[in-house]
Amino acid sequence: MASVPYTTTDIPSAFDPSSFILFTNVGKTCRHVLTALLASPQYAAKHPRIRVVVHSEGSAASLRAAFPPLPADAVLIGDVRELSVVRAAVAGGITHVFHVGPEFTPLEATIGINFMDEARTAGVRFFVFASALHPFRRKMINHRIKLDAEEYLAEARLPYCVLQPSDHMQNNDVKGSVEKGELVQLYSVEEKEAFLDLADLAEVAVKVLASPGEHNLARYELFGYALTYKEAAEALSRVSGKPVQARKLQREEALVYCEERARSRGEREYHANGFAMMTAYNDRWGLLGNSNVLRWLLGRKPTTWEQYCKRVLGV
Ligand SMILES: NC(=O)c1ccc[n+]([C@@H]2O[C@H](COP(=O)([O-])OP(=O)(O)OC[C@H]3O[C@@H](n4cnc5c(N)ncnc54)[C@H](OP(=O)(O)O)[C@@H]3O)[C@@H](O)[C@H]2O)c1
Repeated sequence: MASVPYTTTDIPSAFDPSSFILFTNVGKTCRHVLTALLASPQYAAKHPRIRVVVHSEGSAASLRAAFPPLPADAVLIGDVRELSVVRAAVAGGITHVFHVGPEFTPLEATIGINFMDEARTAGVRFFVFASALHPFRRKMINHRIKLDAEEYLAEARLPYCVLQPSDHMQNNDVKGSVEKGELVQLYSVEEKEAFLDLADLAEVAVKVLASPGEHNLARYELFGYALTYKEAAEALSRVSGKPVQARKLQREEALVYCEERARSRGEREYHANGFAMMTAYNDRWGLLGNSNVLRWLLGRKPTTWEQYCKRVLGV
């Protein structure tokens, strides 16, 4: 049944001249991984080809401006809800896939499963899926839907690695918070939440992509630090030298925010419901994890929120 090597010992452990990496979108995560990949010694040594799926001409232009080394034919414009786009994306010798699902869409699992099926048919050698920390926290529909995709991947007879990132530090507007003197959050500012620097995730992703043999069939929880938003605001005050207070949005304000976020992205109820449920979940339970796996993979301590704020503010 298996048409591609499946066990760890069967698959090559480094990029080679035939390596051709597909990024299935160009959101925040993929941009960080692309940045890290293009700057990595593994890329410099073998120059794997790269293809990126983007949703629109506008996204294509912004990708080309951000990554001038990418050749024009590296960009494929299309809607990943279309099977024909998924099929075209993996065609032509793709060897590695880095997949991130578009968030808060009911088709998220289907899109992931289509990429897995088409990747296997096309003979892809390694599939990296950026999921989310604790997909079993099923009360959050954006976590639960990743369980279906992860389960499918585990049974897909395709060499794979699952990365399970926690909440990104990049979700916060550091400069704007310093200007306004407040770090706003939709949920409790007293519950411990997750803080992960996407640059750390990207460093891990490059290691994983460049060494499938080492990381095949693994799933890694990528958790940076647990902080309350009160603690995060205090750290931001220290780093910036300006007073910053943490503020939880009122319930009505938060619900309006969820609705507007959904509408601005062309989505409606599912997106707004999912976002509102995630907010309620974090309000009650926060999001805690352990940073050992991330530290082991990085070979150093994860980036702290203070270090991240200094980097963003240039101080
Ligand atoms: N934010 C967090 O803290 C966090 C933590 C853990 C996991 N996650 C997961 O990470 C994923 C989101 O990743 P991200 O934050 O890197 O993404 P993002 O910045 O939200 O960007 C999503 C990308 O997907 C593209 N896209 C959306 N629908 C598409 C379609 N139908 N066809 C083609 N492209 C499409 C968008 O393009 P356009 O903008 O052009 O539409 C955009 O480039 C979600 O699954 C989320 O659950 C997020």
